[in-house]
This record gives sequence, structure tokens and C-alpha cells, in this order.
Amino acid sequence: MTPPVVRPDDPLLADEAARWASAYVHVPFCARRCPYCDFAVVVDGEPGADAGTDAYVEAVVAEIAMERPWGPLHAIAFGGGTPSRLSAVALGRIVGALRRRFGVVDGVEVAIEVNPEDWTDRFAAELLDAGFDRVSFGVQSFDAHTLAWLGRVHDPHQAEAAVVSARHAGFRSVGIDLIYGTPGEDLDRWVTTVRRALALDLDHLSAYALTVERGTALSRSILAGAPAPDPDQQADAYEAIGELAVAAGLVRYEVSNWARPGHHSRYNLATWGGAEFVAFGAGAHDHRDGVRARNVRRLDVYLDRVASGVRPRAGSERLDRAAADVERLVLGLRRVAGVRRDDLVERLVVDPAGRRLVAAGVLRVGPDRLVVERPLVTDEVSRAVLALVDRDPSVSGDDC
Ligand SMILES: C[S@@+](CC[C@H](N)C(=O)[O-])C[C@H]1O[C@@H](n2cnc3c(N)ncnc32)[C@H](O)[C@@H]1O
Repeated sequence: MTPPVVRPDDPLLADEAARWASAYVHVPFCARRCPYCDFAVVVDGEPGADAGTDAYVEAVVAEIAMERPWGPLHAIAFGGGTPSRLSAVALGRIVGALRRRFGVVDGVEVAIEVNPEDWTDRFAAELLDAGFDRVSFGVQSFDAHTLAWLGRVHDPHQAEAAVVSARHAGFRSVGIDLIYGTPGEDLDRWVTTVRRALALDLDHLSAYALTVERGTALSRSILAGAPAPDPDQQADAYEAIGELAVAAGLVRYEVSNWARPGHHSRYNLATWGGAEFVAFGAGAHDHRDGVRARNVRRLDVYLDRVASGVRPRAGSERLDRAAADVERLVLGLRRVAGVRRDDLVERLVVDPAGRRLVAAGVLRVGPDRLVVERPLVTDEVSRAVLALVDRDPSVSGDDC
């Protein structure tokens, strides 16, 4: 008898994922910088870019050798930047180094973010050979005007063709990322994008509200008078995608993520559950042995440090038990499965801000779990948790 396929919002899955070891690899290279992006990214002509991708791969492999053995890994995730700027052979070399250093469980998830313009049938076959089983395309929109506004280089047909090709190639899970709430995009155009996405029979869908990050070209143009995203328009867009995705058989399991049963992102579920993970590459952040550490973002500095045999850290912070609990609560409440009731949850639900959220139907206190019923106000819940802790002098983090 085949075991039942697990729903992505299953509380038992969420609790189990909190124990999974995983690894993240950051690939900073991009063909161009999207105006809204503040991730650690390098484009041609910027410091370190001329060293080339081969030098980067060597550095990441060397950095992996500097990390103490651990594991085995349940998930390996490549993000960016644009991981698909590396060849499949180079990506496979990094996967091999991770497997050797940490070991992997049977059926380990090996996932990659890909930009549609980089996809070919040949790349698909090579990625499968390199051990990848999960691909997520940075589609963002199927509306040509919105894509242009977002500074994307692919067109809607290229994105559709890439998803179809990935399906035929045989990846275990195929998904896309979308962005909603772009100024000027009305609800009809957004709904058309969502319908085109769902017609692709996706295993996984992520949809993020366009966020104006400080220091980006988008933020500068808004400061100079260009229209900003409208929160009401974003709320309508979020509701629309929620209804359409569920009608298409996807299950929401986090504020911004939907999956077909059996196709949740293991890496994401582990990190939302507060599981520890190792991370490599310029600008990568990790969480191991109770310490959150971040690598230097500048590619040239990253390459120099690794070449001189030094772990390329920009800083780290040891979270004490209470601060780690808060982080687990804030992240865990983003999941539909919510969090188990513990001392901090009990304090939250009797605190005035927490009581108001329960009375307003935002938070639901079940017999053994606390869940957020209205995902659009998850940020308000996070603020209530943080305020609770700010008033508690026993909670602190030391820079180390
Ligand atoms: C690290 S980015 C992916 C980068 C990938 N190279 C691409 O261009 O799609 C991961 C996802 O975060 C989302 N994202 C990045 N910046 C965002 C922003 N300012 N507002 C909303 N979503 C954003 C996008 O949906 C993107 O696919």
C-alpha cells in the first residue's frame, strides 16, 4: 500500500521539518540588477565579477571544506542572485562537495532557483544528472507590461515554455515565483497572470507582495515621485491568488506559499521551523549551534578571504534561548500549521496585544497549537511577539 501523500500544512510535518539539517548555497551572479532587488547580487563590471564563475565555484567548494562535519542533509537549496548563471557541471560540483562533507538522507531534496531565460532542454537534462530534483522559476508575472516594469529580461512565453520543459524533463517538483502589487497593475491583469500560472499545473507557487527595499532603484524612483505599491491593491491581489490557487488544488502552507500535497519545499519548511542550516557563498546567512552568521556580501572580498583560508564571515550573533524561542515563534506563525503551545505562546495570548488579536479572530488558540487565521496581518502578529519580548529584560542577543 502506498503511504498517503502528506499535505504541506500538516502540523506533524511542520514539527518534523524543524529537525531537518539543510544547506543553502548563494550564487550572486545576475545578468542585470532588478530595480526592486536588494539581495546580495553582482552584475558584470562590479567588484569580483571579472574573476568569473569558475573561481566562485572553487571558492564555495573550499568554504564547504572549512565547515565542521554535520548532517545528514535533508535539503540542499541554491538561491541567488541567479544560480542558473552557473553551468550544471559547476552546480553539480558544489552538490558533490556538500554530499561528501555532510552526507544526505535518502531522497534528499536538491532545489534550484532558475531564471526562465537561462532554461534549455539540455540544461534541464544536465541538472537532473547533477542530482537536482526541484526547480523554481523566477517568473514574477505573465503580463508583458509588468515584466517590463519589473526590469525582467524574459517574456511570458519563455516562462511558460521553461515550465513545460522542466515538467517533461522529469523534475520531481516544478514551481514558480510571482510578484503582486506592482503599481499600475490592476486586478484583472493580475488575475490573468495567476490563471496562466495555474494552467501550467504547477507543483508549487510562491507569490510575494512587491516590497520597496531601502537603497534600491525602485525606492529611489518612488522618493522622486513615482507611484508606490498600494496596500489595498496588494490585499485584493493576495486574496485573489489565494482563492484561485486553492480552487486549482494547491494548499497554502505559509503566508506566501502554496503546494500540491507532497510538493512542499523541505528547505523552506525546515528554516521556518527554526531548524539549523549551513550556508555558503557571498552574502549567505546560516544558523548552526545556536549562532546566526552572515558572510561578506562583496564578491571580491569573499574570494580574497576564502583564498587566504579564512571563513568569509561579516558577523555573527549567538541567540540565547529566549531570543531563539521568539524567532521560532515569529517564523513558525507564518506557517498555516502554526506553532505548538509553549510558555511564550501562553504569555502572548494573555498579553493585551495578543488578547486583542485573539478577540479579532487573527489568532486562534487550539488545544495544542496557536495559528494565524488571517495571513494578511501576520506582520502585526510578529510585532506583538517582539513587543512582548522587548518588555522582558531576560531576552537578549550578544554580537560575537
Ligand atoms: C532571490 S529572489 C530570486 C532571484 C532570481 N534570480 C530572479 O530573478 O527571480 C527570490 C524571489 O524573491 C522575490 N523578491 C525578490 N525581491 C522582491 C521584492 N522587493 N519584493 C517582492 N518580492 C521580491 C521574487 O519573487 C524572487 O523570485
